[in-house]
Amino acid sequence: MKAIALTHYLPSDHPDCFIAANLHDPVPGPRDLLVRVTATSVNPVDTKVRSPKAKIESSPRVLGWDAVGEVIATGSEVTLFKAGDRVWYAGDISRPGSNSALQLVDERIAAIAPTTLSDVEAAALPLTAITAWETLFERFALTRESRGKLLIIGGAGGVGSIAIQLARQLTGMEVIATASRPESREWCLEMGAHQVVNHHKLQEELTALGITQVDAIFCTNATAEHWATMAGLIRPFGHICTIAESSEPWDLSLLKSKSVTFSQEFMFTRSLFQTPDMIEQHHLLGRVAALVDEGVLQTTLTRTIPSLTPVTLAQAHAEVEAGRMVGKLVIDMSGFAN
Ligand SMILES: NC(=O)c1ccc[n+]([C@@H]2O[C@H](COP(=O)([O-])OP(=O)(O)OC[C@H]3O[C@@H](n4cnc5c(N)ncnc54)[C@H](OP(=O)(O)O)[C@@H]3O)[C@@H](O)[C@H]2O)c1
Repeated sequence: MKAIALTHYLPSDHPDCFIAANLHDPVPGPRDLLVRVTATSVNPVDTKVRSPKAKIESSPRVLGWDAVGEVIATGSEVTLFKAGDRVWYAGDISRPGSNSALQLVDERIAAIAPTTLSDVEAAALPLTAITAWETLFERFALTRESRGKLLIIGGAGGVGSIAIQLARQLTGMEVIATASRPESREWCLEMGAHQVVNHHKLQEELTALGITQVDAIFCTNATAEHWATMAGLIRPFGHICTIAESSEPWDLSLLKSKSVTFSQEFMFTRSLFQTPDMIEQHHLLGRVAALVDEGVLQTTLTRTIPSLTPVTLAQAHAEVEAGRMVGKLVIDMSGFAN
């Protein structure tokens, strides 16, 4: 099968950043789906995995953890899908990714894709929707009855865009998102935020709005930079969750006097550790697909790259690693397998 892969970990502007490779067709394990990929998105995780280092792969490594495609074969124990199904999933960080004509995915972390979106529109959502869903409804345990203020830091990014929609549509929380530019601010309002403040002047702009305290904070970006402000803003017994790692340690002692809960979310935990509840990702992706088809949620697609090549993939990585995405970038792979 065709794939765009890497053997060396190079900057995105290096001419050999990615290579075209011809790899053996993967063979499904018992619970695997073999999927012909028709669209993939690029997430910051792709750029972090690709980031320059001395390591050299002995065989080409395929990145990409967001896909829409058609099931063309199933493993011996698959019960949830059949050949011909159109599925969507983020996949498993420990397995080859979706920048290839064919990909294997465990059926417990895939679902039928929304019927009302094109492949490209749908591929914008799986990884970020899983991340936002697990944060809002598992870590924070929000419900339709939840009231109070939710601060989403990094509101216009891929995760923020779907987190705003989920919180606005499925809870009673007041959603305060952060964005620093006119276009990212406008996008947060379009996604459903009640208020938008600039993350570079977080305390100042919240104070100007009369907001001195929030009930929960979903930090999708620059956790260390916002740490002291978050510790000051969160209410007693409130909850802060971050998805963004940091090179600096977080001073948890700042949260003690208010008995604040701090948690981390990593959407690959279930697949990486094959947790007994990993099928929850099948269920939640199914719920998200239904909500899209009911018109409750919308795609977060803002940028489409028309084909997958070593050059276009490197360009996509450069755009994502610039850290200024509004919504999501997706690569159309409909002609890739030919
Ligand atoms: N743990 C997990 O499971 C998981 C899952 C998904 C993503 N992540 C991580 O979460 C982070 C966000 O992912 P993403 O896909 O949403 O990224 P993204 O789409 O690249 O985020 C771009 C957004 O970040 C905002 N931003 C830039 N600097 C910021 C700052 N200092 N403070 C707050 N916001 C800032 C920008 O807003 P402005 O342009 O308005 O400044 C931009 O809209 C990444 O580090 C990613 O690796 C983790």
